[in-house]
Amino acid sequence: MAKISVFGIGYVGVVSAACLARDGHTVIAVDIDQNRVNVINSGCSPIVENGLDQLITDGVSAGLLTATLDADDAILNTDASFVCVGTPSNADGSVGLSYVTGVCEIIGRAIARKQAYHSVIIRSTIVPGTMESVCIPALEAASGLKAGVDFGVGYYPEFLRESTAIEDYDNPGLIVFGALDQPTFAILNLLNKDMPCATHEVDVRTAEMVKYTSNTWRAVKVTFANEIGNIAKACGLDGQLVMRLLCSDDKVNISSHFMRPGFAFGGSCLPKDVRALQQLAKARQVDAPMMAAVLKANDAQISRAEEMVTQSGQKVVGLVGISFKPGTDDLRESPLAELASRLIAKGHDVQVYDPNVSTAHAQDSTAGRGNDVVPDLRDRMVPSIESLIEGADILLVGNAYAEAAGPLREAMTRQPMVDLTRVQAGVVSNGAYQGICW
Ligand SMILES: NC(=O)c1ccc[n+]([C@@H]2O[C@H](COP(=O)([O-])OP(=O)(O)OC[C@H]3O[C@@H](n4cnc5c(N)ncnc54)[C@H](O)[C@@H]3O)[C@@H](O)[C@H]2O)c1
Repeated sequence: MAKISVFGIGYVGVVSAACLARDGHTVIAVDIDQNRVNVINSGCSPIVENGLDQLITDGVSAGLLTATLDADDAILNTDASFVCVGTPSNADGSVGLSYVTGVCEIIGRAIARKQAYHSVIIRSTIVPGTMESVCIPALEAASGLKAGVDFGVGYYPEFLRESTAIEDYDNPGLIVFGALDQPTFAILNLLNKDMPCATHEVDVRTAEMVKYTSNTWRAVKVTFANEIGNIAKACGLDGQLVMRLLCSDDKVNISSHFMRPGFAFGGSCLPKDVRALQQLAKARQVDAPMMAAVLKANDAQISRAEEMVTQSGQKVVGLVGISFKPGTDDLRESPLAELASRLIAKGHDVQVYDPNVSTAHAQDSTAGRGNDVVPDLRDRMVPSIESLIEGADILLVGNAYAEAAGPLREAMTRQPMVDLTRVQAGVVSNGAYQGICW
């Protein structure tokens, strides 16, 4: 069993402290608020949360949970600290770090006075890079010690929801953490070993980003459902029924489909149907700002790719794929066709490899397959990926094709490339190779 100090007896800290004590760990909860410390030590919960009073009563009477104002004592008598202090917004909306830096200074001074190794694990929500640029420097400056060597450091975001916090603690949807050192990974793995979901060990910045992605996704879901509900009501429909039916499709709608960062959406359905729903909302005088932003954001992704190519200064662009996705010859509202037309308008010579569009052209001389933006498309088509690579100054990879993967992986080591789909798992932007979101 571990010995853990929890800094910050707020919604996150108190739930962690009580659940850790329930699971047999020794927990010292630390706060700067005397009242909160007293409430815990009297066996009660300082917050309203289903089932929490009982856990605190049990933990305190078992001698496993105590609370104190004394940070030094808490650090000295535990192996690791969880930091759960608040990170409220600054006036400009950026993350407020005054409590985090304050507590890191206190903890840093305390670990300087301790002989044994101690791990500091931040659970507060902080933007990517904060561990490296704020928390670790504050801990090192206050302790005079080296993070990851003389003491441990980790970032372990919390995803619980108030009102179902204990349930979420026991049955989490996601466990992810990063650390600088093996002892900190070991303690995090020990604390999570019986959890009913996989644990993901990542670098600390990724863990920081996952937390913001999770909360923003939750916020987007609420807003999306509300906008659909408002439009449905204006049409005399029950928005809750509509959303229930949408969510009953867990193969495509509620799944990881369409959730992979990359290039813009397109095709004959999504843009037209988003437009039509937007117009329906307008006609019924329903304000739907998120719907309105969707096509704008999609267009911005096309502009981003366009800029990446123009910034390279290369003239002949070898575009891999021009249909709106691989596996089809459909060019209607293809974002790759739109991108090609913008590059041509800017004076680039765009050559295209797309086996499906080439097949369509060969089978049907009238086949336009919806292209109304790329001039002289037939003349721009090249028959093989090899000839495209050979003739291009820069490769622009839009669609993935099995036969193109090997030659493109080889080419990326010697030729400039803008990659909208990721020709090789795990590859990241690096000089002449630029991935759109990686
Ligand atoms: N509330 C949630 O549902 C939730 C869920 C997941 C993550 N989070 C994140 O967790 C963090 C904590 O949120 P919260 O809602 O529990 O905050 P909170 O405001 O309820 O509690 C923070 C506590 O930290 C204490 N504190 C401040 N400085 C301290 C110090 N130097 N030493 C010891 N204690 C100190 C405060 O007195 C307070 O009791 C935030 O970053 C938040 O974004 C919150």
